[in-house]
Amino acid sequence: MKKKIALGILILLVLIQFIPVDTTNPTVDTQKDFITVTKAQQEVAQILKTSCYDCHANETAYPWYFKIAPVSWWLKNHINEGRRELNFSIWGDYTAKRKDKKMKECIEMVQEGEMPMWSYTLVHKDAVINEAQQKLLVDWFTTLRTGDAN
Ligand code: HEC
Repeated sequence: MKKKIALGILILLVLIQFIPVDTTNPTVDTQKDFITVTKAQQEVAQILKTSCYDCHANETAYPWYFKIAPVSWWLKNHINEGRRELNFSIWGDYTAKRKDKKMKECIEMVQEGEMPMWSYTLVHKDAVINEAQQKLLVDWFTTLRTGDAN
């Protein structure tokens, strides 16, 4: 019985590898990108690209383990959800109110250490934000706040 269950799981694991996961990025219009639109300074841009853009922009770098289901499903879900919440690539399309709301949320997420996601920084050590970087981000996000979302 145990052998059959193990075999069943193994077959299932092999079969799910054939379910395609989309790893193409939507085209990026840099004119709409957050960094371009807000004229973010180099350091801020660098932190965002390293710590946020894999999930919150259309510039995801898909690692090798993205070829393995169900890991790929789990990761793809983060990307889909992340982009839905906040997509820096289409910043130019956001309304003033949405922009302000997102900046408010970003400040909270970064201050509370909730973003980048802990599971992400486990693998991407360079995405960990130190105190100085945290301050840079929060200061920049605060500068961009307009109060429209209040
Ligand atoms: C591994 C993917 C990933 C990375 C990297 C990541 N995020 Fe997220 N982010 C998500 C997902 C998934 C959600 C939606 C679910 C949630 O709120 O936990 C989210 C939600 C958010 C939200 C909305 C939270 C709310 O109040 O509803 C903000 C703002 C945000 N992220 C900012 C950032 C910033 C800023 C960075 C970089 C410093 C970052 N994220 C890095 C995946 C990611």
